[in-house]
Amino acid sequence: MKITKPKGTYDIYSTDAKKIAYVENIAKDIVNNNNFNEIRTPVFEHTEVFLRGVGEGTDIVTKEMYTFSDKAGRSLTLKPEYTASVVRSYIENGFSSMPSPIKLWYIGTLYRYEKMQKGRNREFNTFGIEIFGSESYLADVYAINIGNKFLDNLGLLDKITLKINTIGCSECRKKYITKMKEYLSSYIDTMCDDCKNRYVKNPLRIIDCKEDKCKKIIENMPMITDNVCDDCKKDFENVKLILNNLNIDYIVDKTIVRGLDYYNRTVFEYVSKDLNIALGGGGRYDKLVETLGGVPTYGVGFGMGIDRIMILMEEYNLYKIDYDIDLYFIVLDNNIYAKVIDTVNNLSDLKYIVDMNISNRSLNANLKFADKLNSKYVCIIGEDEVLNNTCVIKNMKNNTQKSVEFNLNNIIESIKE
Ligand code: HAM
Repeated sequence: MKITKPKGTYDIYSTDAKKIAYVENIAKDIVNNNNFNEIRTPVFEHTEVFLRGVGEGTDIVTKEMYTFSDKAGRSLTLKPEYTASVVRSYIENGFSSMPSPIKLWYIGTLYRYEKMQKGRNREFNTFGIEIFGSESYLADVYAINIGNKFLDNLGLLDKITLKINTIGCSECRKKYITKMKEYLSSYIDTMCDDCKNRYVKNPLRIIDCKEDKCKKIIENMPMITDNVCDDCKKDFENVKLILNNLNIDYIVDKTIVRGLDYYNRTVFEYVSKDLNIALGGGGRYDKLVETLGGVPTYGVGFGMGIDRIMILMEEYNLYKIDYDIDLYFIVLDNNIYAKVIDTVNNLSDLKYIVDMNISNRSLNANLKFADKLNSKYVCIIGEDEVLNNTCVIKNMKNNTQKSVEFNLNNIIESIKE
């Protein structure tokens, strides 16, 4: 049997590896320049982390988790999302005793057993931030600003819509759910099976049902956005006010409730204008640390889907990557290898992209290989060159070449455009 990769996973190599690194490097620059600290958590956690953290009635927990027992019979789950895992780590490592707010970032893979479609995989890459310890709407705006800056630096900002909403605090949500259920009670029999389930287990999720028949019913339903308490209302007004002051474009979308249970107050999503996909989402989760056993701690953050971002980057041709290498050394006399490797080390320290032959191939075979690599220049060192302490620098774009004394400065001078 031919061994293939599991459904919903993929190998990243060659130019795609450069593209994902391009996106990740833009993310890393932003978080590093804004004083976030990296956090890496295990690929798998005790299942409890997500049952309690994400919520037992959510799609993630009911349908999508890769859960297995280890040899000692413990129930473990491949991380389907980062936030609950980061919160588990926050509690376990006593972050609450450190000066706050604490600003964390991560890049890594997540696992969800989902129906596959474009931008929906079973293993996918994500970039996210989590901010702990600020009760203020300023932290919500700050997180959104980081998300916007990331998309802006990729060249994607005008290709997306930022949708924001408030889902209130636990108190206003409780009152709202009673009101919503009252409204829905006479329609629920005509709604989709998922919504019938949600009505019992996770009523708020009915708001973002994509089924036409349910959407029609929801059109006239009182929305959570208009039914939050005065404090939550004021908080949301403040978020909008500062976003306006920052000239950050957004729309209030009353159907954004997010698919994870831990959110409260401000929630947001970045959605592609042309393709029907969400690139990222996040919001405030002030009860999650407590839910997972920590001291009450405010939290807000977002997660971006790198795979989906890459679909848009390709669609709009936004990668700024130089696939060429600067210089390829063709060494035809093994006696000079040490000196050439030394020069390669010096050039790579100076940020030139360099390569060299590391097998005994002919000059012609090496030239063909250098051409395939898109090398701008090659540096040829044969027996004659070793005797004379020279090298031949060949410009691969215009096929001119010259002989120079073999030293770092001469080589650098010769490969200036
Ligand atoms: P989420 O909306 O479930 O939020 O996921 C964040 C992003 O991950 C989505 O917007 C999407 O771009 C990407 N994504 C989700 N599922 C898939 C998939 N199957 N294939 C490819 N990409 C996918 C969270 O996970 C929250 N933890 C975000 C957060 C952080 N909230 C607060 N802090």
